[in-house]
Amino acid sequence: MALREEDLKNIPETGIDPENSGKYQGLLEDLQGNILKGHGRDYSVHLFLQWKPEQIHEAKQWIQTFTQTYVKSAKQQANEALRYRQEGISGGIFANFFLSRKGYEALGFEPFQIPKDQPFTMGMKNEQIRDFLGDPEVEEWEEGFKNEIHALILIADDNLINLLQTVNQITPKLRQVAVILHREDGFILRNKAGQVIEHFGFVDGVSQPLFIKRDIVKAQTNDCNFSQWDPRASLDIILVKDPNGKTEDSYGSYLVYRKLEQNVKAFREDQQQLAQTLKIDNDLAGALVVGRFADGTPVTKSDIPTYAATPTNNFNYDADVAATKCPFHAHIRKTNPRGDTGRVESSPGFDEALAVEKNHRIARRAISYGEKDPTQAPETGSGLLFLCFQSNIENQFNFMQARWANPDRFVKVGVGPDPVIGQPEGTQKWPKKWGESETQEYSFKLWVNMKGGEYLFAPSLRFLNHLV
Ligand code: HEM
Repeated sequence: MALREEDLKNIPETGIDPENSGKYQGLLEDLQGNILKGHGRDYSVHLFLQWKPEQIHEAKQWIQTFTQTYVKSAKQQANEALRYRQEGISGGIFANFFLSRKGYEALGFEPFQIPKDQPFTMGMKNEQIRDFLGDPEVEEWEEGFKNEIHALILIADDNLINLLQTVNQITPKLRQVAVILHREDGFILRNKAGQVIEHFGFVDGVSQPLFIKRDIVKAQTNDCNFSQWDPRASLDIILVKDPNGKTEDSYGSYLVYRKLEQNVKAFREDQQQLAQTLKIDNDLAGALVVGRFADGTPVTKSDIPTYAATPTNNFNYDADVAATKCPFHAHIRKTNPRGDTGRVESSPGFDEALAVEKNHRIARRAISYGEKDPTQAPETGSGLLFLCFQSNIENQFNFMQARWANPDRFVKVGVGPDPVIGQPEGTQKWPKKWGESETQEYSFKLWVNMKGGEYLFAPSLRFLNHLV
């Protein structure tokens, strides 16, 4: 029997168990991997494509063969992960296939066959969208992103040589049907403890909405319980029906892709400057910017790093309503207020119940690019290939960036923009002493620059596997 609306709306207490998937079996077999859970491979290549107008039929054939050969379902991804845990056998190449609105059109699909999300329809280059998000003019984007993007393929593996060989094998045939507009090579950056970090040196990918049983059990074990923060999420925040689905349980998801360059040198200098101004140590200065110390310890819980192997995610800001420990502007408090909108006296229009606030969550699947040595401090050429999945771009990524991270008045008037991703730059109030209310104003220059991106859709597998 097909999944009902309630199955998508209600959060299964223990999450979805792909090994015992019951009513979710059909969904997991037809949904691309990497959506409900990250693929976890160390290396990844992203190819942005434009179909050749005289080769549309051949392009569809190419997509069909590529998907059948490389793209894995959520079910296959889970089976491979199990095999890896039990027998140590790696799943090898993992791939995703995504289309933009223009990509569907170029392949000849009718309007009723194209996913309906508003920003997806408008595209990331649209002036209204750029104004809303605070993005630079398209002329300032990197060359490859300036073109009309039709599709994106993501190919990943733990074995870099195998990955590059696979990409080389794929490209000659691909070039017959599409122009490869742009390529990005991503890799997982790690700290000395082996944890995944981003270029500023902070542990990343800690707080995510969780859908899969294994992830939920792991989080529960690490954090004892979900007394302060429950990361479980219902499927309707990430899945939508695929308009071209072949079964009742054919779903897809919207992908937001943004290349975000990080000026690491400027970040480190500013971090030191802030530490000197506030007369605190460098670690705490960084924690006031991000909301977590570099090791992942939430600054609302501690004024020193605790070096937990897996940083806690079981916290909220109930005991920090005045933001004397974790500033309101800190990156993780701006992008996940954990109930602040209803808890503190927020600016008009921002008040929401926690359950509504949680519907703005996104599933982040970012990977770093550029400099591979984390001790270096590049000014340009390095950053984050920011990818996130959701069911409603307007209410999730766009909302988070434009209504929470950017505005000076979220969550309260005068809070200032998120210093990591807020656009434009502004002034924030920083606690002079952790836990006390005296503040000092301080402003930074931007460290993160958007270099290009697109809104895409991950169609269901049976549709892609039977395109021609
Ligand atoms: C180069 C750009 C970025 C950097 C360096 C960065 C860095 C980080 C770090 C270090 C964390 C804390 C660890 C974690 O919970 O995973 C984090 C969390 C998070 N970031 Fe970012 N991020 C960037 C861009 C973005 C963007 C563009 C968004 C969305 C608009 C975003 C949304 C989030 C969210 C939702 C969380 C989790 C917050 C929570 O639940 O506590 N980030 N980020």
